[in-house]
Order: sequence, then C-alpha cells, then structure tokens
Amino acid sequence: MPTTHPNVTVIDHPLVQHKLTIMRRRETSTASFRQLLREIAMLLCYEATRDLELELVDIETPIQAMQAPMLTGKKLVFASILRAGEGLLDGMLDLVPAARVAHVGLYRDPNTLAAVEYYFKAPDDMGNRRVIVLDPMLATANSAIAAIDRLKEAGATDMKFVCLLASPEGVENLSGHHPDVPIVSAAVDECLNDHGYIVPGLGDAGDRMFGTK
Ligand code: PRP
Ligand code: URA
Repeated sequence: MPTTHPNVTVIDHPLVQHKLTIMRRRETSTASFRQLLREIAMLLCYEATRDLELELVDIETPIQAMQAPMLTGKKLVFASILRAGEGLLDGMLDLVPAARVAHVGLYRDPNTLAAVEYYFKAPDDMGNRRVIVLDPMLATANSAIAAIDRLKEAGATDMKFVCLLASPEGVENLSGHHPDVPIVSAAVDECLNDHGYIVPGLGDAGDRMFGTK
C-alpha cells in the first residue's frame, strides 16, 4: 500500500487534513488556496525538520545561567520546483527564515508528461547542506526525479522531498529512482488519471495558486 511505503511519511494531523480538504474543493478561491498552502507548509516543515541536530549552548536567562539547545550541523536549503513549489516555500521560510533557497524551473510536457527544465539556480555549497525539495504535487514523479537529479549534479547528497499530495505511482517511481530521498506528504491519493493528474487530487496546483488556466 502506498501509505505504508517505507519512504513516505504521511502527516495525518487533523489541522493538515482539514486544510487539505478545503484546498481540494473546486470552489476554493485562489487567495484561500495560497493561504492554506502556506499554513500546511509550516506543518509539513515541522515534520520534515524533526531530525535537525541540536547542541547545548551556555546562555543566561534573567534568572540564572543554563545550557539550552540550539540548532547546529548542516544548514538548510529549500529547493523550490517552479512554479508551484513557491506556495510551499513561503510557509517553510516563515519557520526557518535563515534557510538558503534553490530554484529548479520545470514544466511537464502535456503530451509526454516528461519534465522540461527552463531554470536552475542553487547555492554553491550544496554538498554541505541539508536540502528539502518542495513541490505540492507528486504525480508521475517525473518532475521530482528531474529536480533531484539536477540537485545531485550540483552536489547535494542529503535530501528530503516534501509535497502536499502524492500518487501511489509517483511514490513508487521516485523511491525507485532516489531511494535515499525520504518523502513527506499530507496525503497519498488513489491513482493517476490518463492525463497524469492525481485522483481525486485538487487539480493543477500551479493554476490554482496563481489563478491561471
Ligand atoms: C506540476 C506540479 C509538479 C508537477 C507534478 O507542475 O507543480 O511540478 O506538475 O507532476 P509530475 O509528478 O507528473 O511531474 P507543472 O508542470 O504543471 O508546472 P507549474 O508548476 O509551472 O504549473
Ligand atoms: N500537477 C498538478 O498540479 N496536479 C496534478 O494532479 C498532477 C500534476
């Protein structure tokens, strides 16, 4: 079963599931869709960063000295797959404002469903960083695989993929190509349709975020 695939963590928190249901509704406005994606991104970020390293540092409170935990270890990069990754990026940066950002511009060829790259920009020390790849939709996984291939080429070795909705086919495909990349998702839906859309899904995430067709 896709939801028990060892590479996937499904965030079945009530707040995430409630917000996702509103996003799925056909009548949800562009403004609400964008706001909800930003809110869910924070909750997904909470899970995706659960294993960040901490170290104890010496501080003084107004009352006394103590040792308290602070983040240490590799710095974070959020890698946004354009366009729709931008919707997750805002919420992620709300929680981790100091993170660096990489952009991978890809679109799906509507006939072949292959990912076509049109832009790539990433910090030059990707090998020293922990990379969280962002795209709300994992459908065929062609885009996610192409983005992760490209980020590996740029030196990244430590990656997670965070999405809002995944298909079982996409989970299998991404896990087959990149078994070293764990997937965090708010849900794994039923299947893909003949046009490569997630069913029941929420439609085209980029179009719903930006009000395009
Ligand atoms: C959508 C979505 C993913 C991709 C997922 O992007 O944002 O990037 O499709 O599909 P896949 O898993 O089958 O590759 P799209 O190509 O529509 O571009 P956009 O984000 O610019 O709208
Ligand atoms: N991209 C989307 O935005 N939605 C889908 O269902 C599949 C790919």
